[in-house]
Amino acid sequence: MKIILLGPPGAGKGTQATMLEDKFGIPQISTGDMLRAAVRAQSPMGVKAKECMDAGELVSDEIVVGIVRERLQQEDCQGGFILDGFPRTIPQADALKQVLIDIAKPLDSVVSLQVDTDALVERLTGRRTCRQCGKGFHLKFDPPGADGRCTVCGGELVQRDDDCEETIRNRMQVYHQQTAPLEDYYRAEGLLQVIDGMADIADVQASIVKALQDK
Ligand code: AP5
Ligand code: MG
Ligand code: ZN
Repeated sequence: MKIILLGPPGAGKGTQATMLEDKFGIPQISTGDMLRAAVRAQSPMGVKAKECMDAGELVSDEIVVGIVRERLQQEDCQGGFILDGFPRTIPQADALKQVLIDIAKPLDSVVSLQVDTDALVERLTGRRTCRQCGKGFHLKFDPPGADGRCTVCGGELVQRDDDCEETIRNRMQVYHQQTAPLEDYYRAEGLLQVIDGMADIADVQASIVKALQDK
């Protein structure tokens, strides 16, 4: 299964990708997670990316296409993959098309998660992530342990630097301007599957799995 999860900031791409990863045994490829790892490692690419990420702007197409191209050629992507947060611009989608031709792995589906703006803001402001293992939580919708720590590894939970209100607003705008046009792009290719992302996490998961099985 080779799929893209499309959707605005906070739509649940990461949450759903992690669950699909377990269900189908294929890796989640999150450009956001890879960029945050580069920021933590203070690599030259990470230092460059951090400025854009903190402002809620997109990192250059060249950088993200480079990291995805390399990642897709790794052994664990042989059986498929879940792209989370990539592509985000038309040039990225065009570049991905060429990479997938080169490795002979055509896409099966582009799943677009639809969530109201008010709900997105509530999801992003309440999100917490484990510093140690990266597991995501939500203070209200997917709460951590009673001790306020990660339920998997006991790690400390932190808020993402770009989850402050001002940056959230810019990320939404950038999404509408640069990423939303990808819906028409993939609809034209007969790949788009629109999913109601307003339901509970488990119900959204069930809708995605059903859509993928119907395909
Ligand atoms: P990225 O990390 O991709 O962030 P994003 O697209 O803004 O999306 P999020 O990760 O914030 O949301 P999500 O949809 O994964 O939601 P989640 O599942 O966590 O990118 C960050 C930055 O990196 C970008 O701004 C850019 O600078 C750069 N970047 C990354 N990729 C790039 C690219 N391709 N090109 C250029 N630049 C790039 O859920 C959110 C919260 O809601 C969680 O707390 C969760 O528990 C909760 N939740 C999830 N589902 C539900 C539900 N159904 N009901 C209730 N709560 C829910
Ligand atoms: Mg995410
Ligand atoms: Zn953890």
